[in-house]
Amino acid sequence: MLELKTRKTQKTVEAVTGLTILDHALKDDVDWGFSCTRGTCARCRCYVASGRDLLSVPSEEEEDRLEPEELEQGYRLACQCVVKQDGTISVTHKPYF
Ligand code: FES
Repeated sequence: MLELKTRKTQKTVEAVTGLTILDHALKDDVDWGFSCTRGTCARCRCYVASGRDLLSVPSEEEEDRLEPEELEQGYRLACQCVVKQDGTISVTHKPYF
């Protein structure tokens, strides 16, 4: 189960392994800001409140774009982090601006 939250909406969808968080948002009609889908713009940045260990480890792009402290605190790029395993995952869209 994947809970997707933005400033305007909150939706619980089925977590599909192999898809990114952004893939889920697009597939399930959640208005999730993004632009590049390559891990460089950070418009898809998000905070993972629960289920961090159910997601892929940070990609090289995330390591480059986000500060180590942000990764440690649970911030990720939605276009980069992939659901590895089903469980309870809760993610909030947190772009810088
Ligand atoms: S869409 Fe640009 S970093 Fe995710």
